[in-house]
This record gives sequence, C-alpha cells and structure tokens, in this order.
Amino acid sequence: MSRVILFGATGYTGRITAAAMVRQGLEPVLAGRSRASLDALAASLEGVGAFSTALADVADPSSIRALLDTPNDVLVSTVGPFARFGGPALAAAIDAGAAYIDSTGEPSFVRRVFEQAGPRAAAKGARLLTAFGYDYVPGNLAGAIALRRAREAGRPASRVDVGYFVKGGMSLSSGTRASAAGMMFEKSFAFRGGEVRDVRPGGAVRSFDLGGQMWDGLPLGGSEHFALPRLDTSLNDVGVYLGWAGKWTKAASVGASALGVITSVPGVRRGLTALSTRGTPQTGQGPNAEDRAPGRSIAIANVYDPVGRLINTVRVVGPTPYDLTAELLTWSASMFVARHETGVGALGPADAFGVDELISGCAGLKLRAHD
Ligand SMILES: NC(=O)c1ccc[n+]([C@@H]2O[C@H](COP(=O)([O-])OP(=O)(O)OC[C@H]3O[C@@H](n4cnc5c(N)ncnc54)[C@H](OP(=O)(O)O)[C@@H]3O)[C@@H](O)[C@H]2O)c1
Repeated sequence: MSRVILFGATGYTGRITAAAMVRQGLEPVLAGRSRASLDALAASLEGVGAFSTALADVADPSSIRALLDTPNDVLVSTVGPFARFGGPALAAAIDAGAAYIDSTGEPSFVRRVFEQAGPRAAAKGARLLTAFGYDYVPGNLAGAIALRRAREAGRPASRVDVGYFVKGGMSLSSGTRASAAGMMFEKSFAFRGGEVRDVRPGGAVRSFDLGGQMWDGLPLGGSEHFALPRLDTSLNDVGVYLGWAGKWTKAASVGASALGVITSVPGVRRGLTALSTRGTPQTGQGPNAEDRAPGRSIAIANVYDPVGRLINTVRVVGPTPYDLTAELLTWSASMFVARHETGVGALGPADAFGVDELISGCAGLKLRAHD
C-alpha cells in the first residue's frame, strides 16, 4: 500500500496542499516540526476527509526517514528554502527507495536533484520529481506541446525559450520571499550547445508575446533545461525566463549582472549568502484565497529551427500560482500512488508520466494550452 506524506504541511503552501490532498481523498500523513501547528491544521481540516499527523524536523534527519515505511510511499516536501532545508527530505526518500516530490523553485536545488541526487536515486529505485509547482510545470507542459507540434510538422527544433508570467497581480508567500533572497547570490545555469552550463546571473532578457503585448523575461535556471532535451534530442538550447518583474525586468537584469560580478570576488558570495540566510525565517504567511483569486499563471514556449526561425508558440494559462502548485503536488502524488512502473531517478514532468498524461492531468487542474 502507498501512503502520501506531506512534509511542511503547516507552512503557507503546505496548508493549501494539505487541504487539496484531504479533499481529493489521498488520506495524507501531514508532517511538520510543531505539534501545536499540526493540531491547528488538523482542526481546520476536520470534516473535510481522512488524514493523520506526524512530527519531523530537518534538524533531525532520522525523524524524516522515519516517516517512510516502504518504497511505495510518496514524500511530498514543501519545506523551504530548499537550498537550506531541502537536503534531508531528499536524502530520506532516496534511502527508502521511495517517491519524492517537491515545491522548490530554486535553480540550484533543481540542478542538485537532476545532477547529484538523480543518479543515486536511480541506483536505489527512487523516483524524484522536483519543482512540481507553478515553477516549473507550466513551462514543461508548453514546451512539450510545442516540441510535439514541431515534430508533427516535420520541422526539427533546435531551441526552446520558455517564459513565465503572472497576470492579475500576485503577492508572495513567506517561503517564496525567503527562497528568492537566497537565490540572489547563486550561480545560474542554462542549456547551451547541447549541455547544461554555468552562466552568470542576469544576462540578456527575452521578449514574449502575451496576446499582442510584448513582456520581457529574465533568464534563470529551471527544470526545463534538464527535462525538455529528453523529449527531443535535436535540441541545442533551452532558455527559461521569468517575467514577473514586468517593466522592471531590464533593470533587474542589469542589477543581477552587477551582482554576479560583485559576488565573483572571493569571499563576497559567502558573506552575502550568510547575510541572506541569517536567523529564523518567518513562515506560513501569504495572500488569502480572495487576494489570490484574480491571479493567472501563464507560461509560453517558443520553438525555433536551427537557423533561428520561429516554428511555433504554445501558451498555457492556469489558476493562480499557489493554488496551481497545491493542485499539481496533489495530482503528481496521486499519480505516483497509482503507478509504480514509472522511470526512476530524477524525472521531468513529461518523462515521469508521459506527455499525454501530463496534458490531461494539467487540463483537469485547468492548466491548458491556448493557441
Ligand atoms: N515552485 C513554485 O511555484 C512554488 C510555489 C509555492 C512555494 N514554493 C516554495 O515552497 C517553499 C515553501 O513555501 P511557503 O510559502 O509554504 O513557505 P513557508 O510558509 O515559509 O513554509 C516553510 C515550511 O518549512 C517548514 N520548516 C522550516 N524549517 C523547518 C525545519 N527545521 N523542520 C521542518 N520543517 C521546517 C515550516 O514549518 P513551520 O510551519 O513549523 O514554520 C513551514 O512548514 C519555498 O521554498 C517556496 O519558494 C514554490
């Protein structure tokens, strides 16, 4: 029997995800570090459906390992910032040979899962699905559809650019703020010339057409760099661009480039990172359901041929980023519960379940492609 364990259930994203899992009948084990917070969460979910609670703390990795009984268990983690707190849950899932899903949006953690944890997980039969939220499932979905359409049109794709946008405004949760603060000082990466390479933070912005209006995006590392080339081996370049900064994106690019130069001075990066991660971050804060409601998640994939001509564009639109993240974590956990025969190691959204399953699963969550 498979059990779903949600670690970080008492945080902002964790609480929304816990409610979604209980509503969907997954009967999750809701795990967190504070008994009082777990009791408060349990009280809020009374009458919604079945669940149990368990204590576990990143400071005691054995407490996370103890959450997992068999390789059929599915550990979902929303405990972030992941660069700081994500390691023990990842290690526990690999050790148990279990399935693991997380909500990270941090490029360095995504890279760690694919490059370092993936091979170890494959050897243990564990299945890892990182960044299974607003970052970076919609871009993988748009990219997978655009690449398929290019193949069907008989046009080989050489480059994919993916842009992420939010319409209708969005306030950030405590966890997103804490994770973004840590990301400011990290090296970035991109898929160029057929391999994942280090790149300086910042760099050239790209413009994306959002229905007649051009929006800029700032380059950053995503799971698309690892996952999309698995779907189409003719790909040479994959870029992921974040467009939340709107009209400030170009200025943010210059700032990020300058920060890249400053932080390359020996010792400076370490000092700045220590400053950004000092103290105990506040948790559990974020916009309420009413304030989230007007937000729309948007991802665009532009696919180009080897001489740089645009082959096609796919735009996917879905619910507000935090609700979408909770629903995606719930859906992927239920898929892992239902299917034990998926691949092992670090998986991308499409290679975990197949492109058709990803399209129909996302459509069920109202994340759909629009031409
Ligand atoms: N990819 C996406 O689109 C996406 C969307 C949403 C969130 N996220 C990411 O998900 C993460 C969580 O976000 P959030 O807004 O939910 O943050 P949050 O409210 O700050 O939650 C952080 C969670 O981590 C737990 N935690 C911290 N230290 C711990 C420890 N030592 N042991 C056990 N648990 C510990 C907190 O427990 P307490 O409740 O006891 O404080 C809380 O449950 C962030 O990294 C965020 O960037 C990504």
